[in-house]
Amino acid sequence: MRIVIIVAIAKNGVIGKANCEMPWHIKEDFQHFKKTTMGFPIIMGRKSFESLGKPLPGRENIIVTRNTNLKYDFDGIKIFYSLQDAVDYSRSLNKDKIFITGGGEIYNQSISFADEMIISHMKFDVVGEVKFPDFNVDDWKIISREEKEEFEIVTYLRRD
Ligand SMILES: NC(=O)c1ccc[n+]([C@@H]2O[C@H](COP(=O)([O-])OP(=O)(O)OC[C@H]3O[C@@H](n4cnc5c(N)ncnc54)[C@H](OP(=O)(O)O)[C@@H]3O)[C@@H](O)[C@H]2O)c1
Repeated sequence: MRIVIIVAIAKNGVIGKANCEMPWHIKEDFQHFKKTTMGFPIIMGRKSFESLGKPLPGRENIIVTRNTNLKYDFDGIKIFYSLQDAVDYSRSLNKDKIFITGGGEIYNQSISFADEMIISHMKFDVVGEVKFPDFNVDDWKIISREEKEEFEIVTYLRRD
């Protein structure tokens, strides 16, 4: 099972605002995210989940929080109190891959063990407080590039 980070990053490294508003709305990237993740488990931080407002359909939504009192009235979600427990549970589902879908805190903690990253590199800067962690490109091999009008989708595979 591959652990895959999927993220959209502005040219200046920003992925979001502290208030969780998305700094851009690009339909083509949303469609890419949907098509890529459909049918697979997705792991996200509590803040990112709350910014969505509801679970994303067709995917098991796995939310991590440190708040053991947290409850949501939604079907099709699972809550874990550590990222490790969320990943262990995802592994038990025996899917080909699981996606880490953010946000900043969760990317920060998972970049060290992710096998693959699918990054939409936006062609513009935005204002925002949440950034994707710096990574050493030499640790990753680019296996595909797909050029779009406002962004480029680059797939990175961790080098052995
Ligand atoms: N551009 C993109 O592709 C993309 C994708 C996703 C999100 N975003 C953006 O990212 C921003 C949100 O990121 P964020 O860093 O503020 O929040 P986040 O990573 O979405 O969620 C953080 C929360 O996750 C929980 N958490 C973190 N580490 C944990 C651990 N090891 N064990 C258990 N729970 C843990 C905590 O929840 P509790 O506080 O409940 O304990 C923490 O407050 C938003 O602006 C959003 O729009 C961008």
